[in-house]
Amino acid sequence: MTTISKRTGALGTENAFTVLAEVSKRLRQGADIKNFCIGQPDFDTPENIKQAAIKAMKEGKTGYTPSAGIFELQAAVATRFIRTRKVEVKPEHVAVACGGKPFIYWSVLCTTDYGVGDEIIYPNPGFPIYQSQIVAHGAKPIPLPLVEEKEFAFDMEDLKKRITAKTKMLIINSPQNPTGGVLKKEELKEIADLATDHDFWVYSDEVYSTLAYDAPFQSIASIEGMLDRTIMVDCVSKSYAMTGWRLGYAANKTLAPHFARWMTNTDSCANQPTQWAVVEALNGPQDESEKMARSFKERRNLIVKLLNNINGIRCLSPGGAFYVWPNVTQACKKVGAESSEDFRRMLLDQGVACLADIHFGEKNPGQNEEYVRFSYATAKDEIIEGMKRVKEFVEG
Ligand SMILES: Cc1ncc(COP(=O)(O)O)c(C=O)c1O
Repeated sequence: MTTISKRTGALGTENAFTVLAEVSKRLRQGADIKNFCIGQPDFDTPENIKQAAIKAMKEGKTGYTPSAGIFELQAAVATRFIRTRKVEVKPEHVAVACGGKPFIYWSVLCTTDYGVGDEIIYPNPGFPIYQSQIVAHGAKPIPLPLVEEKEFAFDMEDLKKRITAKTKMLIINSPQNPTGGVLKKEELKEIADLATDHDFWVYSDEVYSTLAYDAPFQSIASIEGMLDRTIMVDCVSKSYAMTGWRLGYAANKTLAPHFARWMTNTDSCANQPTQWAVVEALNGPQDESEKMARSFKERRNLIVKLLNNINGIRCLSPGGAFYVWPNVTQACKKVGAESSEDFRRMLLDQGVACLADIHFGEKNPGQNEEYVRFSYATAKDEIIEGMKRVKEFVEG
């Protein structure tokens, strides 16, 4: 009898895509919905980047490339990391992949063995693929609660309690999805000390690095002694409006050759014209990308103001990414919603689509608060109309 493996059965997903499918269906049926679900810029890829891909295709640059990526791109990434993180990265320490995502599972595969109890600590709520990939590859997921009182950083004591002799890797993500939280330099320093003392890897998911609004972006890799144990991952999806092009990159001296071998075993290499486009993205003019970041900051200020103007909703101003994570506990009570997921469904019926906290991990033990996520990667008019609907619904 043909069967499906337990591993595949247990594989998680990004529930955001399930909600998106529901929203798209309603939109096709003519519903009027303001959509705050999607974690991708609403901008088009800058023209100079598109032209670089077209040029590459016309020049016949369409074949396989080395699995780690074309040298020009490895060099461009190394230069970018040196400039923005102030670290010493050589082109050969860089590996290129089809998006930022593959590095999550390759890092799990490179740092843990199947079914022997190796542990990975990851932020909760967090990008759902962390937990899914940890479980799928036979490691033990150890969720680390992010707390509102700490502006959605974690309590260092909570981290210390979770570190054991089996801890192989800690995943951090700053600016963060879904809370928009940003880790402060002092917090990164404390994490760095723990990683060094207990000798584990740090997976630093920096895919929102260009979207830090209130203070310059900081990577844990910049802290003295951390470069070699940090898997520094970034991509062009969010910073250059290139989600569908599928290109991400990571730097780590030890792991880059292993990532390249995983690449040989999976996709062979990233799409060649895309790689040339990203050389242009990284080396070419940055004004379009900077313009997008300024626009996201304005939208953040707008949505935070509008949400805090709703009786029953409390929203911190997130330091980065393009998400807000308002506390809707009181709002749920007001409208008779049993949970944030219930609240989300009710909001959808009012023509506002967002995601609920359960889409980003199970509730942390003892957590009685309810949260939803709005992505503000959408036009200002949409934000104004959407938040008006939320206000009318919650305030009755
Ligand atoms: C925290 C985080 N990491 C990684 C990714 C994946 O990025 P990519 O689309 O480049 O694979 C996302 C995408 O939403 C994300 O939010």
